[in-house]
Amino acid sequence: MPHSDHVQIAPAEGKLGILVPGMGAVTTTFLAGLEAIKRNLAKPIGSLTQLGTVRLGKRTEGRSPAIRDLVPLAKLEDLEVGCWDIFEDNAYEAAVKAGVLEMPLLEQLKDPLSAFKPMKAVFDQNFVKRLNGPNIKTGGSKMDYAEMVMDDIRQFQERTGVSRMVMIWCGSTEVYHQSAEVHASLKNFECGLQNNHPEISPSQIYAYAALKSGIPYANGAPHLTTDMPGLTELSRTMGVPVAGKDYKSGQTFMKTLVAPGLKSRMLGLNGWFSTNILGNRDGEVLDDPGSFRSKEVTKSSALEYILQRDLYPDLYSEYYHKVRIEYYPPRGDAKEGWDNIDIFGWLGYPMQIKINFLCRDSILAAPLMLDIVLFLDLARRAGMRGVQEWLSFYFKGPLHAPEVYPEHDIFIQLMKLKNTLRWMAGEDLITHLGLEYYD
Ligand SMILES: NC(=O)c1ccc[n+]([C@@H]2O[C@H](COP(=O)([O-])OP(=O)(O)OC[C@H]3O[C@@H](n4cnc5c(N)ncnc54)[C@H](O)[C@@H]3O)[C@@H](O)[C@H]2O)c1
Repeated sequence: MPHSDHVQIAPAEGKLGILVPGMGAVTTTFLAGLEAIKRNLAKPIGSLTQLGTVRLGKRTEGRSPAIRDLVPLAKLEDLEVGCWDIFEDNAYEAAVKAGVLEMPLLEQLKDPLSAFKPMKAVFDQNFVKRLNGPNIKTGGSKMDYAEMVMDDIRQFQERTGVSRMVMIWCGSTEVYHQSAEVHASLKNFECGLQNNHPEISPSQIYAYAALKSGIPYANGAPHLTTDMPGLTELSRTMGVPVAGKDYKSGQTFMKTLVAPGLKSRMLGLNGWFSTNILGNRDGEVLDDPGSFRSKEVTKSSALEYILQRDLYPDLYSEYYHKVRIEYYPPRGDAKEGWDNIDIFGWLGYPMQIKINFLCRDSILAAPLMLDIVLFLDLARRAGMRGVQEWLSFYFKGPLHAPEVYPEHDIFIQLMKLKNTLRWMAGEDLITHLGLEYYD
């Protein structure tokens, strides 16, 4: 039985608005999935919030409720989605172009998908070199654009009658930029918005508009957004949770499954070469070196943190890690990833592991998007603010407090997520000690 009531969670009453900058492959796959699930045409495969359970108490108690019965999550039928994109295509047209889902399913969903029409985007080609589109806001300072987005949000709320909202970035990956002076405090950032500072990106303008409106923000891409002091300060002063960054969907998901296993057996690593071919618009944007650099950083950091070379110099001090993404149009969204892993064991004897993952990027990412928005809404109703480290499970580059390293090991991430849910529900945390069974 729950033993504490210290986390007060407001009920998930009314509708939840999901605000999405970027209506491309992932977003349209997500939207089509929601519509298909609501019509009983499909099941929410890949979604922890819809299919996952949490074990409570001792193993002898046999209590494993569904996550959605343990904590109050918004229901799928209560979701309303609003998107921005630089192209005018509605979600049906965008889904056809993205080429992820097959036409017979899309035809069944044509009416509801055609109803999603993107709002005019905040766009700056300095941040996404390979794209240009007509559906963009013009004529204003960066602060004016933030206010236009806040207006869009207010109008969306009036139109749909949602009681709460969450924003999640599903737009293209922006060029790699590090946090600069203009990001160092909220004051600097707001001055920068007024003065059109060149280091402020469109994604940061959307995030500012969301946080200023009291709306949680998640970043599904690898570029710099809320992971800077200015916007972190805003999320804390507004009492709003943030999460990110970069969905951990394909190759990095595999990497964070395998690397903790190798380390658990004290097997050494000489090298890890990862390469991908992919031919969707995301692949085209990532063909630009600036956008690729953002991805390379989040894709590369997981191994460093999991393997802890400082603690295990005999095993991991000298490994070579290389990550490549090659744009290859014939493959579309059906990405193929190869990993060649050179490991060594007892007496230094070398061995190899090869992983060939024929995945579908957006099919893997869409359920993550669903879980992230539902959990961020839950966190908001539970009074949690700032960085939500318990959602690291979903990201290649988890946001974290400055004084701790990010946790990349997927098994630790899952334990952290489930323990956070137990804590919210006032249940005992699970330590896996288990001595009581053998007293
Ligand atoms: N699919 C995955 O598995 C996966 C994994 C991790 C991260 N991501 C990231 O998620 C994002 C979306 O991926 P995707 O495959 O849907 O890409 P996509 O190229 O199909 O869609 C991105 C959309 O964003 C739009 N866009 C670009 N800049 C915008 C702006 N400023 N405002 C509004 N819209 C804008 C583009 O026009 C495009 O329609 C990418 O950044 C990608 O790197 C995807």
